[in-house]
Amino acid sequence: MKVLLIGSGGREHALAWAIAQSENCDQLYCAPGNAGIESCADCVDIAADDVEALVAFARDNAIDLVVVGPEQPLVLGVVDRLKEIGIPAFGPNKAAAQIEGSKGFMKDLCAKYDIPTAAYARFSDVDGAKAFIDAQGVPIVIKADGLAAGKGVIIAETLAQAYETVEDMLSGNAFGEAGHEIVVEQFLDGEELSYFALADGESILPLTSAQDHKRVHDGDQGPNTGGMGAYSPAHLMNDALEEKILTRIIEPTIAGMVKDGHPFTGVLFAGIMVVDDEPFLIEHNARFGDPECQTLMLRMQGDVLAVLDAAAKGQLDAVKDQVSWSSDSALCVVMAANGYPGAYQKNTVINNLDDTAEIKNVTVFHAGTAKNDAGEIVNIGGRVLGVTATGKDVQEAQRRAYMGVNKIDWPDGFSRTDIGWRAV
Ligand code: AMP
Ligand code: GLY
Repeated sequence: MKVLLIGSGGREHALAWAIAQSENCDQLYCAPGNAGIESCADCVDIAADDVEALVAFARDNAIDLVVVGPEQPLVLGVVDRLKEIGIPAFGPNKAAAQIEGSKGFMKDLCAKYDIPTAAYARFSDVDGAKAFIDAQGVPIVIKADGLAAGKGVIIAETLAQAYETVEDMLSGNAFGEAGHEIVVEQFLDGEELSYFALADGESILPLTSAQDHKRVHDGDQGPNTGGMGAYSPAHLMNDALEEKILTRIIEPTIAGMVKDGHPFTGVLFAGIMVVDDEPFLIEHNARFGDPECQTLMLRMQGDVLAVLDAAAKGQLDAVKDQVSWSSDSALCVVMAANGYPGAYQKNTVINNLDDTAEIKNVTVFHAGTAKNDAGEIVNIGGRVLGVTATGKDVQEAQRRAYMGVNKIDWPDGFSRTDIGWRAV
């Protein structure tokens, strides 16, 4: 098979690494990729949101399967455009990608199909939202409806902050178009985990769980980021909880999407709040999590390409026995550029990556990297490396991952020192 993978993050490096191992993979392209992905794929200089150029490349190169990493091209309809020219793609079409692209869409789906989630209301007018907030009290959660790169959620502790957030979002100042409609919802006090399942439109293949660390500083303090680390499986997970997540959240979601006329194909990534052992859906994403995907790919056993291909073609039932999960834990520590998630320098040199890759059970996935003219690896993004390790438990995986982090010579980067702390 000739495969085109779209994206350039640690998630895509992990996917490329896994796909390249498949017997069926004759040729793997990645658009645009990064300096690490170059070791397992041919990187093509097309941006992940340049839908027309991606479709033209897939057509001109007779691609057999396109695997879409990030949400942006999904929401822009890349899967629909590929389907028009007969190229199968792993990921939902534009209509189904609304499950991530619109918080209001996802909440209405929950209401319609009785999926447990925080009580909510949708608003596009300031006065209506304020009246609802007055009635609910604080803390309260306010979300921009559209995609906001993980930053469109504010947990307001005071009424003044809630009012200000509503005004900022609805004026279009805070998140532009994405904030012209908002969801206001009940604050849920619990512990979060992520759950992943593949769907081929109708059938579901449950994958596994992970927990990520969104805050930038140790102890889960400081501003939110795209994710500073993750581990899998989540320590909260057990058979009873998994059964509840599948029957109350994943199955009704996939069935509801069919009933509503836009079946979901791809990976459903449910963000779940566990309150007194009961799961509530915080959000659905239409893609793998990053960094969660880096831990998943190290634990997944079986032919990843065969499974993604089957999901894309509505044939998941045929490959269900081909996937299993290592009983090992995997843990990923993200190394980011000093200053991230605020302003940071680019083109700072990273050394010792080869020595780090020699450490047993440690894999370094690249995110925001490139090669400079001297052939050195430099950062071009905020989140730059995912140092990922496996071990018999989270403790061992954590110890190995930090051995890797300590070996990397990058004075301009930092990482959290406590990834996995809830499990350890
Ligand atoms: P989201 O972008 O929807 O994942 O939200 C970002 C983060 O905000 C989540 O990971 C949660 O930590 C928090 N959050 C979102 N909704 C709620 C809620 N209803 N109650 C408590 N925390 C929430
Ligand atoms: N790590 C969270 C996300 O990918 O959305």
